[in-house]
Amino acid sequence: MRHRPGSHKGAGKTLVILISGRGSNMRALLESGLPCRVAAVISNRADAPGLAVAERHGIATQVVPHRDFPDRASFDAALAAAVDAHRPDIVALAGFMRILTPRFVEQFQGRLINIHPSLLPAYGGLDTHARALRDGVKIHGCTVHFVTGDLDHGPIIIQAAVPVLQNDTPATLAARVLHEEHRIYPQAVRWLYDDILSLDETGRVRWKHVEQAGFALVAPGLE
Ligand code: GRF
Repeated sequence: MRHRPGSHKGAGKTLVILISGRGSNMRALLESGLPCRVAAVISNRADAPGLAVAERHGIATQVVPHRDFPDRASFDAALAAAVDAHRPDIVALAGFMRILTPRFVEQFQGRLINIHPSLLPAYGGLDTHARALRDGVKIHGCTVHFVTGDLDHGPIIIQAAVPVLQNDTPATLAARVLHEEHRIYPQAVRWLYDDILSLDETGRVRWKHVEQAGFALVAPGLE
């Protein structure tokens, strides 16, 4: 039987986090006091520094090395099995740097979310901060969205906007955005945990109890 989001309602929900690197968003999730049980942190890289951080938090870690598999489909099948073994209600990609196959996305549809360092749909893909600076945009930010087959796109749950300052470098802008990532990712997971929102059958975010989800935009002023 296919596991559905919310099926653990009232009994607590289980979160699995996928990482590839530093894991600062994972850490923000672990340290934000979320009521979820974090069943595992899974990485496609054994050298991901975030794994040690997870272990320090007493979270089980697992590595599914993509290089051990001949192709994307077989890696994704192994990854899906590793994730599914925990029967998660929420699967959070936190700096997970592999493109997932439609099959994986379909299996976890509605409970698979990602954080991306731009105000989507602008600047999908890599090097978002350098590209934003090159274009001279005045507002940049980050987005938490449901994952669909469309890379770095998908129904938006929450965004945070930050100003782009005159002397910004990709590094300074990245730091300002990352600060907001660490605020909005736990918020998005909390909303999912509380069943405040879901992915509806038309592929849009459906908010429960609220007419206008104005609070899904975080816009701090100039610091
Ligand atoms: C973050 O900027 C995230 O938005 C992007 O990759 C980066 C990962 O950073 N997807 P970390 O591993 O969470 O520190």
